[in-house]
Amino acid sequence: MAICFHEEKRIFQLDTKNSTYLIGLTPEGYLGHIYYGRKLHKEVNACLLRTAEAPFTPSVNKREKVSFMDSFPMEYPVGGIGDYRESCLNVRNELGQMGCELLYQSFEVYQGKKRLEGLPASFGSEGEVETLEITLADGILGLEAVLSYSVFEKEDIIARSVRVSNKGSESLQLEKVYSACLDMDNEDFEMISLCGSWARERHIQREPLHYGKQSVGSVRGESSHQEHPFIALVTPGTTGQQGEVYAMHFVYSGNFLAQAEINQFDSVRMVMGIHGEQFTWNLSSGESFQAPEVICTYSGEGLSKMSRCFHDFYRNHMIRSVYNHKKRPVLINNWEATYFAFDDEKLLEIAREAKNCGIEMLVMDDGWFGKRNFDDNSLGDWIVNEEKIKGGLKKLVDQVNEIGLEFGIWFEPEMISPDSELYRAHPDWALQIDRREVSMCRNQYVLDLSRPEVVDYVSEAVAEILRSANIRYVKWDMNRQLTDLGSVWLDREHHKELFHRYVLGVYELQERLVTEFPELLLENCSGGGARFDPGMLYYSPQIWCSDDTDAVERLSIQEGTALVYPLSSMGAHISDCPNHITGRITPFETRSHVALAGSFGYELDITKIPEAERQMISGQVAMYHAYNDLVREGDYYRIASYQENHRFDAWAVASKDKGEVLVTYVQVLAEPNKRSRKIRLQGFDEDALYRLEGTEQVYSGEMLLYGGFLVEPMKGDFVSRLYHFVRM
Ligand code: GLA
Repeated sequence: MAICFHEEKRIFQLDTKNSTYLIGLTPEGYLGHIYYGRKLHKEVNACLLRTAEAPFTPSVNKREKVSFMDSFPMEYPVGGIGDYRESCLNVRNELGQMGCELLYQSFEVYQGKKRLEGLPASFGSEGEVETLEITLADGILGLEAVLSYSVFEKEDIIARSVRVSNKGSESLQLEKVYSACLDMDNEDFEMISLCGSWARERHIQREPLHYGKQSVGSVRGESSHQEHPFIALVTPGTTGQQGEVYAMHFVYSGNFLAQAEINQFDSVRMVMGIHGEQFTWNLSSGESFQAPEVICTYSGEGLSKMSRCFHDFYRNHMIRSVYNHKKRPVLINNWEATYFAFDDEKLLEIAREAKNCGIEMLVMDDGWFGKRNFDDNSLGDWIVNEEKIKGGLKKLVDQVNEIGLEFGIWFEPEMISPDSELYRAHPDWALQIDRREVSMCRNQYVLDLSRPEVVDYVSEAVAEILRSANIRYVKWDMNRQLTDLGSVWLDREHHKELFHRYVLGVYELQERLVTEFPELLLENCSGGGARFDPGMLYYSPQIWCSDDTDAVERLSIQEGTALVYPLSSMGAHISDCPNHITGRITPFETRSHVALAGSFGYELDITKIPEAERQMISGQVAMYHAYNDLVREGDYYRIASYQENHRFDAWAVASKDKGEVLVTYVQVLAEPNKRSRKIRLQGFDEDALYRLEGTEQVYSGEMLLYGGFLVEPMKGDFVSRLYHFVRM
């Protein structure tokens, strides 16, 4: 049993394979956090709740209730009655007064896990996950909050969420409903987050915590290029292999806040949820609000262990696509090959050449619909442009299929161009503020997905295209952040719900898509990687990582992404050089080694690249087929970080039984007069012997782990090697 309630001690105990989480109850019914960390095997108690220290609990010392509220390690803090730290729930009553007090009512434990209505969330069978629901209530407001903890024992994960219900008679306003809180004593924590920009997504950032609040967040309506809904608190000196890590990751694709706050008593409160800015939810009598899920994990063995827990968890309990555990077809996408300048002939030319090289799917990117030859028109007009695709879409798809390739297509369903038939017919379908000109971003506006009829239109428009031909893959793009948060059909009261309603609209669209087309390979995308989050992962087994396809830039982007996401989920392509974004020239081979750590495909004009490179493609496709099972399903180990050392990068993927290990090494900058570099490898069985593929060389696992491996000296910048070790 992963969950147990010690009735006499009033303690909830949640155990995973390697961690224990303890929640305690005071005599009045306040729910407090006792412990999260290394697994405890002996009897537990509530000594860490500090209820024996002044100011005691309100029943013992009513005079100092506020002091108690402001120092007690709250499991789910509320605002308005004395806790001045960040609250998770702010509620206003009908008179507009803000205050709430949640006290324990009851609990329930069951095998399995319920779905979260309207939201993506993790799943698992009755044997895989056990759930604790603790019901708290505010008797004055008639408000009930159910805190849910789903314990995935094997993966060391606790998935948390909160559902708030109005069981009283007055109308309430929720001004903030976060999904999880962790109140702990500070251990000189440092905070790790993932930050960046367009073409520089998810670089790892690490800073010591200081007094006050440190946060990352988004108010852009998407999880964003700039910051990522993930934070980890780590003890000083934490590395890949050692140190304590407390991590939270948000299963949500819109505005978020992830924050750590050190207070006057040196305790730290870590919270995660929908950003409180521009959020209010009206909760009439009888209504409920479901907050999205936060995935929590603790690792006592450093960051690599945390990564592997997230990877296993997402592969086993978040990605629902039939492609999750399957090899994806090697695709070629025409975006960087042609941008908007293509027609059916050009695509067929690419397809024929691609087929000769062993590529398995052609993806037609932006520019096939309406009159779109540039980014300033036609979004919303999902009708094939027969001037470019002569004879229509079905004819093209059939021809591509005849050549022997599958066919995929690009959409940007959430958007509307001011110059489009759709906008001319429905100008009120764009998000807009009364009398204000809508702010343009990439020449486009955002559709008001809070409106059911707009969701219906978009869903039908996409489905109709997919029904019209043998389309096996969709790239679902979203190329701008949200502004002008106004909806023509929402009244004043409901406008602050718009950001969240928009995200619910996106989820509804994706749900309909994957329900009608369960065999479809869906790749989410957002101007590169602005919506790479677990919410999107629920619908699509892979997400486009970044518009930056430069192999060197990708090292940092993919390292940051792989800190939490399985390699199989990272959309990665080999593109042409000089790279279109950085102008850098890297060897074709290095580009393939870097893309091998992701979903793997091509994004170049295969009819125009140098012959020598074209000749290499069939070998690269064979390499993908040889190693993809390992890369997709294996355990990931970070060995060296170019982002940290500015010279070289290395990672390994080991099969679950440690029978084979694939090491990728990239020498970013050559250094003169150096001996071979020794790197300590990971992922090996220390009792086994391994042969290095392509050589007669035999190594012991323990030597590779504790001694190291000498990387042969290489000339040149941006060169790379793959080392495949197989247990003897
Ligand atoms: C975004 C995507 C690109 C490409 C273009 C098309 O930027 O990230 O891969 O699809 O849109 O407009």
